[in-house]
Amino acid sequence: MKAIQLNHPLIEHKLSILRDKRTGTKEFRELIEEIGMFLCYEAMKDVELENVEIETPITKMKTGKLNEDKYAFVPILRAGMGMLDGVISVIPNAKIGHIGMYRNEETFEPVNYFFKVPKDIEKREVIILDPMLATGGSAIDAIDLLKSKGVKKIKFLCIIAAPEGIKKVEEKHPDVQIYCAHIDDYLNENKYIVPGLGDAGDRIFGTK
Ligand code: PRP
Ligand code: URA
Repeated sequence: MKAIQLNHPLIEHKLSILRDKRTGTKEFRELIEEIGMFLCYEAMKDVELENVEIETPITKMKTGKLNEDKYAFVPILRAGMGMLDGVISVIPNAKIGHIGMYRNEETFEPVNYFFKVPKDIEKREVIILDPMLATGGSAIDAIDLLKSKGVKKIKFLCIIAAPEGIKKVEEKHPDVQIYCAHIDDYLNENKYIVPGLGDAGDRIFGTK
């Protein structure tokens, strides 16, 4: 599956503010949340609605409704937490799991330190949240963990993706659809995305 990029002038506008090194923690956090919400709308384009009959103040009508019990959001800690409120505003009754992952600063390999997901995770479509897809290592490990718990349908939502990381995830998990706000140019020698936005976790939580 080819990664899907949001193509919209307002997303580019929001990304320009997000990327700017002068943007402070409050605005950065708000933008991560807002773009997360738009990514969620895009990712839900293929959902099948259930047919229901409702009554408007005027008349009865047949329409479609989403069964929200079929979904779970799984942010990758820490930075993925920044997108959670945005996606939850779209599907408020989805369950939430957490995967703790950090990149070893020398090897750039992900280290998993936490895993807690809803008990019935294998029955749900899982939407993973992480603003940055760099080498793809964290995404691949998170997907591996979820598949080992029996999850069959997974989508991956990120704000910025590097072509190298997309390629790796697509090779290892061709069934996982990636949605991103922008595909950037390349990874630098420290495996940071160029032009990117810097360290997403630090900018969301103000830790640097
Ligand atoms: C960042 C980011 C991803 C990972 C991406 O997290 O949020 O999880 O790096 O890199 P990769 O594609 O090369 O694996 P980081 O390790 O900085 O942890 P943090 O969210 O706690 O800041
Ligand atoms: N993690 C980040 O937060 N930023 C990058 O550019 C790469 C990994």
